[in-house]
Amino acid sequence: MPRLSPKSDREVGVMEELKQHTLHLRGERIVLRPMTEGDWDILLKWNSDPEVLYFSEGTNVTSWDLDMVQQIYRSVSQSAFCFIVEFEDKPIGECWLEKMNLGRILRKQPGLDCRRIDLMIGEKALWGQGIGTEVVRLLVKFGFEEENADAIFACDVADYNFGSLMVFQKAGFEIFSAVGQPPATKAKVGYDLVLTREKYYDMASG
Ligand SMILES: CC(C)(COP(=O)(O)OP(=O)(O)OC[C@H]1O[C@@H](n2cnc3c(N)ncnc32)[C@H](O)[C@@H]1OP(=O)(O)O)[C@@H](O)C(=O)NCCC(=O)NCCS
Repeated sequence: MPRLSPKSDREVGVMEELKQHTLHLRGERIVLRPMTEGDWDILLKWNSDPEVLYFSEGTNVTSWDLDMVQQIYRSVSQSAFCFIVEFEDKPIGECWLEKMNLGRILRKQPGLDCRRIDLMIGEKALWGQGIGTEVVRLLVKFGFEEENADAIFACDVADYNFGSLMVFQKAGFEIFSAVGQPPATKAKVGYDLVLTREKYYDMASG
């Protein structure tokens, strides 16, 4: 949700530890709880699964090692609220709400507080059961109602990732831009989608 390599393309520096928070976001069936330094085993498991990475990464990477996994999440956490998704008291995925880090979007939204959502349901047996939809709705509510964001984006969603496109569109996101991808990547097009604060509150009142 990455994401067309949002992860691998990030400038991942050497960070000591995850920047943590204490928030719990509770949905009907899931809880989003803070990601911690005790979560490396599950994060490594999901980030070593070629089928998960096929959808979550733009390049042909099939596995990240522990060092890279730690670099990625520690780096993201400096400007994001990183969560573990729990279902029936078990960790089943990860997600975050992050300050927008893509110049191509920020340049078109000067002065606005733009964020992005990324998510991965790492337990494949649970794909297609509405959990991704619930994750996005919880993060969107948090982003607008608690963080007062002006716009929330999903970035670089691969053209073949129908599940991800559906999850965001069901929450009210619309296509913001279609970005042609370099030849070495799996997608021909990566979509940026957006939900504005105005549309969010219009939907809530309608
Ligand atoms: C993409 C992902 C987040 C979707 O979450 P999910 O829990 O599987 O999705 P949901 O069950 O909430 O599905 C939402 C809608 O998309 C549809 N959908 C889900 N997967 C689909 C697929 N592969 N093809 C077509 N439609 C799909 C569902 O039927 C549902 O539609 P409905 O409400 O009309 O029935 C999850 O599959 C995942 O984490 N995949 C691996 C990592 C990834 O792709 N992350 C996102 C990168 S941008």
